[in-house]
Amino acid sequence: MYRWLVFVHVVGVFGFLLTHGASVLVTFTIRRERNPERLGALLDLSARSITAFYVSILVLLAGGIAAGFVGRWWGQAWIWTALILLVATMGAMYATAMPYFRRLRATLSSTKPAAATELDGLQSSRVPELLTVIGFGSLLVILWLMMFKPF
Ligand code: HEM
Repeated sequence: MYRWLVFVHVVGVFGFLLTHGASVLVTFTIRRERNPERLGALLDLSARSITAFYVSILVLLAGGIAAGFVGRWWGQAWIWTALILLVATMGAMYATAMPYFRRLRATLSSTKPAAATELDGLQSSRVPELLTVIGFGSLLVILWLMMFKPF
């Protein structure tokens, strides 16, 4: 039973990485893209990955939380730390990635004369590096917590 729950949890992790990979690649590809139609298509690709991304997170959480009960891990701090870190990273994404992509989409469809300059500014922004540090940093720490259960 326990192994099956961990199996479901890891399936959720695979889904999470595969689906969110679309947004990660789009974040860096849009920097060099100057064609508005292709830019719009890339932003659409990221938006379309979001439903499958949330389904994967639910599978990941359901498997992980259930495995935590069956394995009697909830008395240890590492599993709480991993869960809090995942939720905090989601919060950080809502505060940084979402407004950044929202502004990109709004600027791309804007007819204002200053839109082209604003778009250039957004495309050369350092937000992608910030997202990488937050997202990959958090994933590495969560992986370490799950594998080594240090406390
Ligand atoms: C533990 C790691 C991560 C978690 C938990 C996470 C979580 C999230 C969540 C919850 C959203 C909001 C989705 C929505 O409702 O629109 C989001 C969006 C986004 N994330 Fe992440 N993320 C992670 C890693 C990363 C990394 C490493 C990058 C890029 C280098 C990244 C780039 C983005 C982008 C660009 C969006 C906006 C997508 C769009 O609006 O189309 N994320 N993320």
